[in-house]
Amino acid sequence: MNFCILMGSPRLKGNTAELLKPFISELKNNKANVTYIPLSEKNILPCKGCYTCQDVQDRYGCVQQDDVLEIMDSIIACDCIVLATPIYSWYCTAPMKALLDRHYGLNKFYGSAKGSLWAGKKVAIIATHGYDVEYGAGPFETGIKRLCKHSGLEYMGMYSVRDEDDLASFKTDSAVKGAKEFARKLLSCN
Ligand SMILES: Cc1cc2nc3c(=O)[nH]c(=O)nc-3n(C[C@H](O)[C@H](O)[C@H](O)COP(=O)(O)O)c2cc1C
Repeated sequence: MNFCILMGSPRLKGNTAELLKPFISELKNNKANVTYIPLSEKNILPCKGCYTCQDVQDRYGCVQQDDVLEIMDSIIACDCIVLATPIYSWYCTAPMKALLDRHYGLNKFYGSAKGSLWAGKKVAIIATHGYDVEYGAGPFETGIKRLCKHSGLEYMGMYSVRDEDDLASFKTDSAVKGAKEFARKLLSCN
């Protein structure tokens, strides 16, 4: 099974990265292929809203020359997209939001092109947040569930841990166990 992990945190050794360690090692121990993309290191321009992609059949078709085409190639090649992000202002971080907006070229819903380049893929969330899960991560999870429904993606659920003590919160036995269990859950749905 091929996983594409989109890492939204600018802190590449921070809380979300710490939570990803046992998750990724469990995936790899079970022979999954993992592509890890640190979005804060990529050039991801905001969507221009030009709708050009909507008239380009069978290709992503965006007019912008940045790193998004390469990221979309990884998304198209995977079975499961993992949105790994700290919650910033009740949603994901800015590079991930910019990338999510750029999903338009994957859904040919609004022009002469038809179909989808990613329908049927699985989507999962790994989140870290300062507030409790419902208050902190609820709005992001709701948004992603709607995006999945709209785009014909299969939403697999969210694993999240609250930041109560910075890095230490993500190294506890229960945080590590939960991350491994979430990896096995995603693998078992293949
Ligand atoms: C700019 C900023 C905005 C944040 N906004 C929220 C928020 O809206 N809700 C929340 O629960 N936590 C919020 N937090 C806390 C982070 O989500 C939390 O500390 C997270 O574990 C950081 O992960 P990282 O080390 O991977 O970047 C915010 C943190 C920062 C720096």
